[in-house]
Amino acid sequence: MDIKAHSQHLTYTDWTVSETHLAPERFNSRETTFTIGNGYLGTRGSFEEGYSRALPATLIHGVYDEVPIVYTELANCPDWLPLVVIVDGDRFRLERGEILSYERQLDVQRGVLSRKVRWRSPSGITIDIVFERFASIADQHVLGLRCQVTPVDSESAVEVQASINGYPENQGFNHWELLDQGKTEHGVWLNLRTRSSRIQLGMATGIKLSGAEASLQVTNPPGYPTLTASFLASSGQTVTVEKLVTVFTSLECENPVEVACEKLAQLPEYSSLLDAHVQAWDEVWQKSDIVIEGDVTAQLAVRYNLFQLLICAPRNNDKVSIPAKTLSGFGYRGHIFWDTEIFILPFFIYTQPELARNMLSYRYYTLPGARRKAVHYGYKGAMYAWESAETGDEVTPRWLPPNDFYGEDIRIWCRDREIHISADVAYATWFYWQATGDDEWMRDCGAEIILDTAIFWSSRVEYNTKYERYEIREVIGADEYHEFVHNNAFTNRMVQWHLEKALYIYDWLGNNFPEKLNELDQKLNLSSGRRSRWNDIIANIWIPYDESTGLIEQFEGFFQLQDINLEEYEPRTKSMQAILGIEEGNKRQVLKQPDVLMLLYLMRQSQEFPYSQKTLEKNWDYYAPRTDISYGSSLGPAIHAILASDLGKTAEAYERFMQAALVDLEDVRGNAADGIHGASAGGVWQAVVLGFGGIQIGNDEPVAHPHLPPGWRRLKFNFLWRGKWHAFDLRPQEDTETKGKEHKAMDMEKIQSPDIRGFIFDLDGVLTDTAEYHYLAWQKLADEEGLLFNREANEGLRGVSRRESLLRIVGDKHYPEEKLQEMMDRKNQYYVDSIQNISPKDLLPGVLTLLDELRQAGIKIALGSASKNARPVVEKLGIANRIDAIADGYSVQRPKPAPDLFLYTANQLGLEPAQCVVVEDAEAGIEAALAAGMWTVGLGPASRVGEAHVILPNLADTDWTKLRAKLNDAAAQQQKAGV
Ligand code: BGC
Ligand code: BGC
Repeated sequence: MDIKAHSQHLTYTDWTVSETHLAPERFNSRETTFTIGNGYLGTRGSFEEGYSRALPATLIHGVYDEVPIVYTELANCPDWLPLVVIVDGDRFRLERGEILSYERQLDVQRGVLSRKVRWRSPSGITIDIVFERFASIADQHVLGLRCQVTPVDSESAVEVQASINGYPENQGFNHWELLDQGKTEHGVWLNLRTRSSRIQLGMATGIKLSGAEASLQVTNPPGYPTLTASFLASSGQTVTVEKLVTVFTSLECENPVEVACEKLAQLPEYSSLLDAHVQAWDEVWQKSDIVIEGDVTAQLAVRYNLFQLLICAPRNNDKVSIPAKTLSGFGYRGHIFWDTEIFILPFFIYTQPELARNMLSYRYYTLPGARRKAVHYGYKGAMYAWESAETGDEVTPRWLPPNDFYGEDIRIWCRDREIHISADVAYATWFYWQATGDDEWMRDCGAEIILDTAIFWSSRVEYNTKYERYEIREVIGADEYHEFVHNNAFTNRMVQWHLEKALYIYDWLGNNFPEKLNELDQKLNLSSGRRSRWNDIIANIWIPYDESTGLIEQFEGFFQLQDINLEEYEPRTKSMQAILGIEEGNKRQVLKQPDVLMLLYLMRQSQEFPYSQKTLEKNWDYYAPRTDISYGSSLGPAIHAILASDLGKTAEAYERFMQAALVDLEDVRGNAADGIHGASAGGVWQAVVLGFGGIQIGNDEPVAHPHLPPGWRRLKFNFLWRGKWHAFDLRPQEDTETKGKEHKAMDMEKIQSPDIRGFIFDLDGVLTDTAEYHYLAWQKLADEEGLLFNREANEGLRGVSRRESLLRIVGDKHYPEEKLQEMMDRKNQYYVDSIQNISPKDLLPGVLTLLDELRQAGIKIALGSASKNARPVVEKLGIANRIDAIADGYSVQRPKPAPDLFLYTANQLGLEPAQCVVVEDAEAGIEAALAAGMWTVGLGPASRVGEAHVILPNLADTDWTKLRAKLNDAAAQQQKAGV
């Protein structure tokens, strides 16, 4: 599947993402993309009218229920969305009748999802239908849905049916028993209970209609309470139906259905609920927003990722945490991984620490589960679950079924061996405390987490008497492609770091809260023997690091594995594990995600061993090319973006960053349907603030060491440190350090990135390949005239005008002007005849996507071609509506390589030459563009287009993001060279 080809369907503004065409092949991934929520629940962006291929889901924090193989999962809760509109007997559905216009939009500033459709029913009635929905962040048990219908050209009898669907499924599995249902004077209600965890859920709904006289009817088929309104609407008359829903579970109150009904009875109007919701969002954004100027896609993508995190962060509950796929899909079943502590929490720690505390408290409350796991494996202390749910017991599936009929079950070893999770939790606990100074929480919860997991480590390490060192054997590191390794550098160093902090916390408690220390001492046994063993482990644990080279070996024996050149597998759309198989992957030096580099990233924050610029460089060069950054783990790209940016690899940093930022918006990895990639979203915040913004804590306050991606004119965000807000407003060229300390501007910041506003495309060999038609026409003419001509001679005619081509073909022969003219006309006639059949399928790969991306980014597009037939060809290609100006063989006198044609084109666009990029496949074209003072992208071999700023084989594998990064690099090179 060509994933990129569809990105054209989403458009971005600073705060909104819109879909203006239905993309059937994107049906389920878009349900994820348009997820809304409020920290209590998340609801996928499924349509109100319901489709059999839809995967609607409303997931509520903490509502887990048992299920085979994966033990427990978030139970899909009753669907509050159903709303069916029937127009003169025809039920509104997108595949029936005719869609005259369509737009679905998520406004992340206001937390509102809407859809506007102009629909012609099968019986020919045209009607506007506008849907809007929100999950109130001001009052988390309230959901609002509004539908407005306006007949366009005739009076219509309309029926609206609003229901609750009490038969939600988790991929075929229904977790609910229906207890009861009924109606009140305000609406209808449903009472259900999960099958094994016996959590009760009450949901109630009422509707209100305005703009017409309506009759209301209640029907209560089992599990599907429904309210129906019927009315007549005349043409141009808007009728509004507001559906309000309340939901509670027995996790918050004793009798949820009663509470839901009471709440429904007291609710104010839809509009005031919406106002309160929007205002609450405003407060959230004041703390957590990031402003980026100069890059609309990045701006929206960053806000979108933050939105997705903000809607799943538990606001009033500290016994739950954010699952890997947030509350937006069935992937990983609502289980909680290190994704939360390492990738997601920093965003909250530094902008909304009370939410970070809720999630860390979840780890405190799940310590009993972690202790049971340690006991089960024969260790002491607390050993956190790789995948955790309501109790903290290990819920990673032990086996997964194979993909093919005859395959064997796959043993998942993460539950047994991916033990770094315990150090990851300690890491987040420590940094939360550092950032907030929340001593009370550290005393009451954090200390016990850090100390009891330290006890686990000292029972887990082994002493190797031969080498006189501590080792940790049989683990899986951050890189899951190697499943049974000894002395994984990441794990060993994190454990060492963890024990260092445990000793610190022990002393800190002793000095500040001796009673608490006493209590913990009795509970956990923190004897001096234990502590001296911690010290011994710290001093003698083996970290496979070669001081002379700075290279860290990912684990014992990694360098002996078969080496791999990932480029040999390109292009690919699958992970290296899917290509090689688990066994073969294990044998090679190929990583699913950063491991040594992940360690360096985590130690970068406090500049601790083994982090240093030198080790970073050395290990980057070794590990980055061996990492499956495209289809391995989605956790990788944001981290690589930060490190690449540190290393001055601007283009790569930006590319990785966008890969992470667009993973769900553009379904970059093809699995967005399973749910939002929460860790990637958190990584995006870290990449912007800690990476590009370069925030570090110097002298007890945050200081920026920015290196903004080229093109970003401004980066603005807030950062909370020890109760004090620090506002950063960074620009590319000024000295941006707050309070004027420590800031060393990197070279890159002085570099002016090109201000690209327009693209000028040559036609032949760039947008389409009519070169063959030209060749055949010339060949025919040459044959008729007995002139020597062949394909090879034709090569020299790229980008050359008709007259000049003919002159080259006739060579020394002399012809009167009329004859030349006649021959040109004849060739042209042959050509014109042959291009009659050109159609959109003759567009070269990648062209359409690029044109759409450019338009979306507000960049003007022109054609600059020597061909006199450029206009009809463009029309036949079906892209005329995407092109703002055409300059062709009639526009100027002097042909390329004179700059005239391009200068003329820029003028048509109203742009300066330096604001234009010319895309050309001909030497003469590149020369012309350079002479015009424009940026150039050459398509083809360097022997032909080597003078261009950027050289690509064709447009197939590129996009605006990549192109811009490359142009920025070219500009940097030029400026460094003083050109
Ligand atoms: C992931 C593991 C996870 C396992 C089972 C794998 O795809 O890489 O981290 O534990 O699935 O859910
Ligand atoms: C990654 C893990 C991650 C998990 C859940 C796996 O594919 O390898 O690092 O924790 O997915 O996102």
